[in-house]
Amino acid sequence: MPFFISLCLYLWLVLLPGRTSTAVNEDIEVLVMLPKNNSYMFSIARVAPAIEYAKQGLKIGSGLYSGLNFNLRCEDSDCGNDALFSLVDRSCEKKPDLILGPVCEYAAAPVVRMASHWNIPVISTGALASGFREKDKEFSRLTRISPSYLKMAETFLAMFRNFNWKDALLIYDDDTKERNCYFTMEGVHLKLMDEYQTVTYATNSKEERLNTDDIIKYIYESEGTVLQSLYSVPGYV
Ligand SMILES: *[C@@H]1O[C@H](CO)[C@@H](O)[C@H](O)[C@H]1NC(C)=O
Repeated sequence: MPFFISLCLYLWLVLLPGRTSTAVNEDIEVLVMLPKNNSYMFSIARVAPAIEYAKQGLKIGSGLYSGLNFNLRCEDSDCGNDALFSLVDRSCEKKPDLILGPVCEYAAAPVVRMASHWNIPVISTGALASGFREKDKEFSRLTRISPSYLKMAETFLAMFRNFNWKDALLIYDDDTKERNCYFTMEGVHLKLMDEYQTVTYATNSKEERLNTDDIIKYIYESEGTVLQSLYSVPGYV
């Protein structure tokens, strides 16, 4: 028996591929999905040079990844369904190996669902809404590299515990389009709701002026002790 084991071990060692030439030579098709519109700070024109720079960095020297050839292709994701359409159109030809972006919540959601179904990894600096935490299901292939709204909301939870606050009135500006403020507040609400009372108040600054009298009345009525307010900067939270 010991002989048999050593024979197996020997064969295993012999059969092991040479590990000295480790650099992998492979083409990696990367689909970059970002908005063309430069009013977003994560537009193609702003981000593509950084991706290009990273790509060059991987090429330098004889590192493990120097043999990988990343073929970048940028598509306009806009901030809505265009991202999904370009992924599907593109995949009729050939599926990408990796997707970078989209950032906007409503652009990212269908793309990540489709990519997870196809087993394609997605790396995004956005997709921060709480719904994306469903990692075992539809968003299984998503890696987010920025702190999600739920993570950010832990700051508020810590403040509530520290100052012994009891309830919160959450005021947010709901643009009904990209809804960054809504998703931000959703994270805060979800974090606080188990232990604290939260009441929400939505406004839409594009359609109406902020009615402060109404808000103050609301505070009195709800006896809220904390007021949080977020206003959208176009295209960025
Ligand atoms: C770019 O985005 C801004 C903000 O969403 C919008 O007002 C503008 O019309 C967009 N420009 C184009 C060319 O689509």
